[in-house]
Amino acid sequence: MSMSILTLTINGKEHRFENLDTRTTLLDLCRQHLQITGPKKGCDHGQCGACTILIDGERINSCLTLAVMHDGDEITTIEGIGMPESLSELQQAFKDHDAFQCGYCTPGQICSATALIEEVKQNWPSYVTTDLKNPDGLLIQEIAERMSGNICRCSAYPNIIKAISQVLENQVSANNATSSEPATSSVQSSAVTGIWSPPPSQTQLGNPSTNAANNNKTATSTAGGRS
Ligand code: FES
Ligand code: FES
Repeated sequence: MSMSILTLTINGKEHRFENLDTRTTLLDLCRQHLQITGPKKGCDHGQCGACTILIDGERINSCLTLAVMHDGDEITTIEGIGMPESLSELQQAFKDHDAFQCGYCTPGQICSATALIEEVKQNWPSYVTTDLKNPDGLLIQEIAERMSGNICRCSAYPNIIKAISQVLENQVSANNATSSEPATSSVQSSAVTGIWSPPPSQTQLGNPSTNAANNNKTATSTAGGRS
């Protein structure tokens, strides 16, 4: 089965495909057809988040969507978010907070968190939001829930949360500074330790750990360079 012409803009560059097999997932199109290997194939079943990319700014598991469903869409992979010489604020925060070990999940984590930051700015509620009219996306529990679709086999979760918290706090307070609304909450960014399934327990939230930033790591993972 095939369709005639498909046009996608990926990381600002237009790509045209003729007679692409309609069964091709967006993940396979990136990895196999274009050698864009930032998005990873962890499970190919929508369960790990390693393949997360952005479509028109919103996050999606690219293993679960067909390329032909996205004719004309703007697609961003980790390569479009930032490369080693031009890391985004979030990529830099992942580096600074030692938020990865093997790095396999990292491109997906960063794409996911990039969209999360926009969702929080727009006051989208999550499954654990108690006040739907006034969601506090800066809370650790909120960040954990919103990132629960991205699995890290190395269990870098506490530092992933710290990296995201730091950027969220910066961006949301900058956002509040430009609007008349005062910031209503602060991030407990140093309060998460250990391995947990979100949301973390009160014990985990109340047991601060030292933040050992590892400056020796290269930017490879945060820029999706491992294929
Ligand atoms: S590879 Fe897509 S969710 Fe795991
Ligand atoms: S850093 Fe290894 S899977 Fe997340």
